[in-house]
Amino acid sequence: MATEKKSVLSVKIIGGYLWLITPLILILSFMSTPDQKWFKIAESIAEINFSSSGLAEIDVNGKRICIGLFNDTLFACTQKCPHAGGILSEGYIDTAGNIVCPLHRYKYSLQNGRNVSGEGYFLKTFPVESREDGVYVSIGTTNIFGL
Ligand code: FES
Repeated sequence: MATEKKSVLSVKIIGGYLWLITPLILILSFMSTPDQKWFKIAESIAEINFSSSGLAEIDVNGKRICIGLFNDTLFACTQKCPHAGGILSEGYIDTAGNIVCPLHRYKYSLQNGRNVSGEGYFLKTFPVESREDGVYVSIGTTNIFGL
């Protein structure tokens, strides 16, 4: 009987603090920065097998992404189009430096993922760097609460 009262009391105490704990957890999860781990994808830009359209599909830590080369600058984005899953590495880069999806021709800025053809989608992009010792991509991973 005493044990039952103790556990009921514990639940009431914890429940009483839920109003405080829940927003705190949400705030901390949004404030924590995603782990930006860099992955080496090639020894040099020349090693990447770009198509004639300047795009390539590569594997980064088990994730397929699209790499683009435009005006000697590298870009990286998700492999699948946010509209209906078109394979972006099978598209092309237009003269303004936007990636064009091969399925419905929606266009996205390679610099920031903005849907420049105006359909309201957003393409996830990744930082990519060509360094002295190779080409690196950072694919964002989840933060401490997996959000
Ligand atoms: S799937 Fe890419 S524009 Fe529709």
